[in-house]
Amino acid sequence: MVHWWSMLIKRTDPLRVAVLASGRGSNLQAVIDAIEAGTVQAKIVAVISNKKNSPALERACRHGLAGFFVDPKLHAGKPDSRESYDRELLSVLREHDVELVLLAGYMKIVTTVLVDAFVNRMMNIHPSLLPSFPGLDVQRKAIDWGCKLAGCTVHFVTEGVDEGPIILQAAVPILDDDSADSLAARILVQEHKIYPRAVQLFAEGRLRVEGRRVFIEQGKPAGEAVISPS
Ligand code: GRF
Repeated sequence: MVHWWSMLIKRTDPLRVAVLASGRGSNLQAVIDAIEAGTVQAKIVAVISNKKNSPALERACRHGLAGFFVDPKLHAGKPDSRESYDRELLSVLREHDVELVLLAGYMKIVTTVLVDAFVNRMMNIHPSLLPSFPGLDVQRKAIDWGCKLAGCTVHFVTEGVDEGPIILQAAVPILDDDSADSLAARILVQEHKIYPRAVQLFAEGRLRVEGRRVFIEQGKPAGEAVISPS
């Protein structure tokens, strides 16, 4: 079955985006900057965090965006605490007519409550070339495994962690003297390029999902192979 997940007709109003972030928020910043520069036609209508003092919320505030702290403690102790938390998130997302949700360093696993409400309308960015190295501390794992290439992936979010259909990837060579931090910094530069690009592709209605595969309508043919070491 073929699904079109965003509108094919050219839209006049900007895509309504929410960003969920727990920490530093540099990917949030990249999307904000791209919107302000006019390279992404979207509007961030909500920035939501599970951490009260997250720099992501400060960034939202600096740019005049609506920021929300949703407190996990109010749901702790309930038998379905994670679902209950996501129901509160969902009500914020619905109140703001959100069309696309971006997870950007959001350090909570989303439940089916959110996944089912935003099928192929929720993206995540992950600092590895998925399906290699899902989870945490992945730059270190790529180095320790002896990989010659690392990178980052934007994918749609499904129930399995870091498992959804892949939208865009960028590869980065692993250098002999790389530390996890130096590699993470080079990957992050690419994250800041591909996440806004994925949002713009969605806004333009150019992402088509067939099973696990995401096709980009009118995408450019792939370039040359990336070989590392060159
Ligand atoms: C990024 O490396 C992202 O790939 C991962 O978490 C990190 C978040 O960084 N999911 P930031 O908060 O966007 O700066």
